[in-house]
Amino acid sequence: ELGFAGAVRASLNEVYGAYAITVMHEDFPGELIVARLGSPLAIGLGDKEFFIASDASPFVEFTKEAVYLEEGHMATISLENGVNIFTIKDNEKVEPAIQELRLNLEQIEKGGYEHFMLKEINEQPRSIRDTMRGRLLVDEGVIKMAGIWDHLERINKAERIVIIACGTSWHAGLIGEYLIEEFARIPVEVEYASEFRYRNPIIGPKDVVIAISQSGETADTMAAIKLAKEKGAFVYGICNVVDSSIARVTDAGSYTHAGPEIGVASTKAFTAQLTILSLIALKLGKHNGNLGNAEFMSLIAELDAIPTKVEEVLQSSHEVAKNIAKQYVDATNFLYLGRGYNFPSALEGALKLKEISYIHAEGYPAAEMKHGPIALIDENMPIVIIAPKQGHYDKIVSNVQEIKARKGQVIAVVNKGDVQVSSMADHVIEMPETSECFSPIVAAIPLQLLSYYIAVYR
Ligand code: F6R
Repeated sequence: ELGFAGAVRASLNEVYGAYAITVMHEDFPGELIVARLGSPLAIGLGDKEFFIASDASPFVEFTKEAVYLEEGHMATISLENGVNIFTIKDNEKVEPAIQELRLNLEQIEKGGYEHFMLKEINEQPRSIRDTMRGRLLVDEGVIKMAGIWDHLERINKAERIVIIACGTSWHAGLIGEYLIEEFARIPVEVEYASEFRYRNPIIGPKDVVIAISQSGETADTMAAIKLAKEKGAFVYGICNVVDSSIARVTDAGSYTHAGPEIGVASTKAFTAQLTILSLIALKLGKHNGNLGNAEFMSLIAELDAIPTKVEEVLQSSHEVAKNIAKQYVDATNFLYLGRGYNFPSALEGALKLKEISYIHAEGYPAAEMKHGPIALIDENMPIVIIAPKQGHYDKIVSNVQEIKARKGQVIAVVNKGDVQVSSMADHVIEMPETSECFSPIVAAIPLQLLSYYIAVYR
């Protein structure tokens, strides 16, 4: 006779795959059994009540105490006996580690906004500032990051940095590659975690892996980290959720202090990831001598100004994005183009649109347009082109000419006061000027707003 918990445990030992489950049995009405493998599970400890969710935000309104179930653990929960944790494999008892939740209700409420996504888009001046706070000390000319500082030699001596992530975090990784290679001159590769983990990658003790994840729970990223660690690589995490599985399994790391991201489409976590990657690239470059002091000082001053510029672009682009969105609600395809640092911005813009408006969208490096996608361009094809002054502006101008020659509809994201691209574009969204390397942070805002409003109108 196994009993309720024993039966669940025996069954789970036969189960293949990832899960986070709650089991109820009509013969045991006062008892719940929870178990997790590969997916997160949090138990809220209330006053004569318990809450079970994939993270603490749904129950923070009711209790400030939680137990995060560890990988491969299960728990029996009842009013009589409280929470008792065991390993699924061997039935070994584990002491529950009760955590005080630091979330507050305001962080996870919509605060008058129609959707979390809109709230989170608007929060970005603050979330970027919070991510820099205590790290970017402009007056002292210093970037303080304990995680990097403690392992500076290891990271600077890396033969190669491999960035692993999924989705939007992977796009942040691509921009991270441009940043780290430009300023620290360390070779960087960026891989989808889901590809990396299944392809027997060449990775070893001389490599440093940077894993990027908002949630800190993405199963592919987690598995890729485990593989990299097994092969002896040093793994640095960039996570948003404190104490998440990835944050705990990495050798060192930095939190993006974006606050809880509840909207399914990642917005403020993305710009916070770019902020951290900028800080890391500048810090490494300064330390290994590839970035001279004068340039370092001017770049950190520019980075420090980014939250204000994000504020400006938020103020100016809501209405513009709304008007453009209204005109394209029925579009069936979109192209997003950008060059250099803003090629990944184009990928991210397209992903945001696909994900929330269900319109097919492709991101492309603008110069690649002529190698195929140009065949798709006609008067029905809206093309979002990210064209800040810095970078490859002249090249972008000729891309826009090519698009207009085929009657494509151009929605240009340009710097304030732009003339050349703006005069050819059908629609213009302006943003403040900044260094090319930080422009993806500013450009992300109008792209997020455009996809948000299109989705709302649809
Ligand atoms: C897109 C989006 C996803 C996530 C991806 C990785 O808006 O939200 O593409 O970026 O699932 O998630 P994390 O960063 O939590 O590992």
